[in-house]
Amino acid sequence: MLKGVKISGTGSFLPDRILTNHDLEKMIDTSDEWIKTRTGICERRIADENTATSDLAIEAAKKALKNAHKKPEEVDLIIVATVTPDMIFPSTACFVQRGIGAKHAAAFDISAACSGFIYGLAVGYQFIASGMYDTVLVIGAEVYSRIVDWTDRNTCVLFGDGAGAVVLEPTNKDEGILAIDLETDGNTAELLMVPGGGSRNPICQKTLDHRLNFVKMKGNEVFKFAVNSLVKTTRKVLAKAKLKPEDVDHIVPHQANVRIIDALTKKLKIDPEKAFINIEKYGNTSAASIGIALDELVHSKKLKKGQIIVTNAFGGGLTWGACVIKW
Ligand code: ACO
Repeated sequence: MLKGVKISGTGSFLPDRILTNHDLEKMIDTSDEWIKTRTGICERRIADENTATSDLAIEAAKKALKNAHKKPEEVDLIIVATVTPDMIFPSTACFVQRGIGAKHAAAFDISAACSGFIYGLAVGYQFIASGMYDTVLVIGAEVYSRIVDWTDRNTCVLFGDGAGAVVLEPTNKDEGILAIDLETDGNTAELLMVPGGGSRNPICQKTLDHRLNFVKMKGNEVFKFAVNSLVKTTRKVLAKAKLKPEDVDHIVPHQANVRIIDALTKKLKIDPEKAFINIEKYGNTSAASIGIALDELVHSKKLKKGQIIVTNAFGGGLTWGACVIKW
């Protein structure tokens, strides 16, 4: 018999430095007007040069543990979703394990780009549902500013740095994660990737000269794919949970583009007021965005016990997925 799994605490952390659209106007050929109307983004946070992904993840994890009333030694597993790890190995999760003093925890990273948080929730859920572990920390964390080409206006205006975390624990009540859907289409890998720095195109002068160590994206095609895949996965996950779009109290989408979120709520016929949006402050923080949004929703006092949240994301891979949670 599988155990129920609930979120018992949330936490988030953003670097202090703010980079506004007006700052970007001085760096590249763009405008505040273009960025705001095409994406909904006004500003984003940028980590300082001494800060790595694990530094942001550690701060978010500490807050999530505090809110869950858990000590670091009680954590059994740490999962970090990121595409901007501190280094190729050890995993960023190992640095988090050390940083928070979770001396009994196993730790590993997962890579699913902006869908990483949903994938991380799914993996953490399995470990608890199966009875193997009791306390799992799932963290989405990125210093995306390190893989953005600051000379490419098509991409550099979109992203920001940050971290969000949740603590997962077993529950025997009618609450927690009700259903999860994960999907992938590797045929669309070329739409969004960092081609350099791995075993296909290792770092060398040629890789650097061709700027292969930075994000490459076909934005238009990703946009179309995003809307369709998010609608599909959300319908599917709600059906799995035996719920309808009208049963949803809060939708917490990956924060990539406010137009994608608007199209999603319109197609699902969900009141747009139910969508949690903070993209104007942080831009797209990739795997961190849902963790940050969930934490802000929890602290906004808009979320009530027993309400239904549906969260969904898409990202490089392409990967996408959704999760239904009863709070
Ligand atoms: N400032 C001014 N003009 C710009 C900028 C900019 N920053 N960027 C592009 N433009 C120009 C283009 O050059 C183009 O000009 P042209 O018509 O003269 O060629 C024009 O604006 C329109 O460009 P489009 O790409 O058609 O603009 P669009 O409305 O599609 O918006 C955007 C682009 C914002 C990237 C949109 O396609 C989008 O959000 N796509 C989804 C991307 C996404 O979510 N990626 C993250 C996935 S998650 C992950 O795994 C990281």
